[in-house]
Amino acid sequence: MTHATHDALLTEAQLSLSATRSVAELESWHVQYFGREQGVLTGLLRAIPSLPPKERGTVGKAINQAKQTLELLYQKRAQQLQHEAIAAQLVRERTDVTLPARRPFKGSIHPVMATRDELVELFAYYGFTVAEGPEVEDDWHNFTALNTAADHPARDAQDTFYLQSDGPLAKCLLRTQTSSVQIRAMMAQTPPLRLIMPGRVYRRDDVTRRHYPIFHQLEALMVEPGTHFGHLKGLLTSLCRSLFGEARPVRFRPSFFPFTEPSCEVDVGCPFCAGQGCGTCSHSGWIELGGAGMVHPNVLQAVGYDPSVITGLAFGMGIDRVAMIRYGVNDIRHLWENDDRFLRQF
Ligand code: PHE
Repeated sequence: MTHATHDALLTEAQLSLSATRSVAELESWHVQYFGREQGVLTGLLRAIPSLPPKERGTVGKAINQAKQTLELLYQKRAQQLQHEAIAAQLVRERTDVTLPARRPFKGSIHPVMATRDELVELFAYYGFTVAEGPEVEDDWHNFTALNTAADHPARDAQDTFYLQSDGPLAKCLLRTQTSSVQIRAMMAQTPPLRLIMPGRVYRRDDVTRRHYPIFHQLEALMVEPGTHFGHLKGLLTSLCRSLFGEARPVRFRPSFFPFTEPSCEVDVGCPFCAGQGCGTCSHSGWIELGGAGMVHPNVLQAVGYDPSVITGLAFGMGIDRVAMIRYGVNDIRHLWENDDRFLRQF
């Protein structure tokens, strides 16, 4: 083997070695040169005895050197390929830890509940605390004790859902007003008292933009010697200012409730049409917030108070109505339909 062939062989072997792209290719390269049967180097070694004796030494040495060099390069290439394989695997299995996680849906406070909480806070400022009563109420607390006898025409305006006609729940109904809690509170406590009573009430009503068969009321009751209508007006006016701002008009309209005398209804200017009249306010320019009045002497008597020494004021406002005005919701149904697109705005 001459030097030239030796060099050419080495170069060619190195080139084909660096061209290997996988362990399999590398192994077949190894067989090609080092294979026991057909290996190029093996073949060369085997041919030595047929050479002239004086050449054998040099050729043998050259071949062995080539073998050593190639074996070393082979090891290196094996290592390289292994590293490349690992790197490729890392790229393939890469996890992008910077990808933001899916945000959990936290939910939010429903506008009606948020309004209730705000009202509770506002009233606390005037010294009112919270009382509660049952939604399944008996006829006496819901009507009779509130000066509304069985044949009283005022009952017609508050038709509701009755439970059984006999048995333990006979004469029980879904309360039509939180005024029933006035009775329970007055019977449980002695004056002076300042209470607010928020809760759900029910009426058999047609569904409109302002009416729904279930809604929320916030009843307020203040029973203290010397309480008069001026307190009622002052309290409601300042409450409306806090809730809706100084600019929103408030009006007191004479009205009738069996359990208050005198009675009125409280309206605020419709925010959806700036008082011009629209579908939400039935073209009146006003939205009714609720009823109010001085507690009727018959009611004070029914709970065992002496109407000759004590007076009280009461009102019941629709929390849903307040929420509509505060949040600009022009249809009460939105507050009940659980539509995600609506609720997500709060
Ligand atoms: N309970 C009355 C209603 O639901 C509102 C009201 C409460 C009126 C307290 C006067 C006093 O219509």
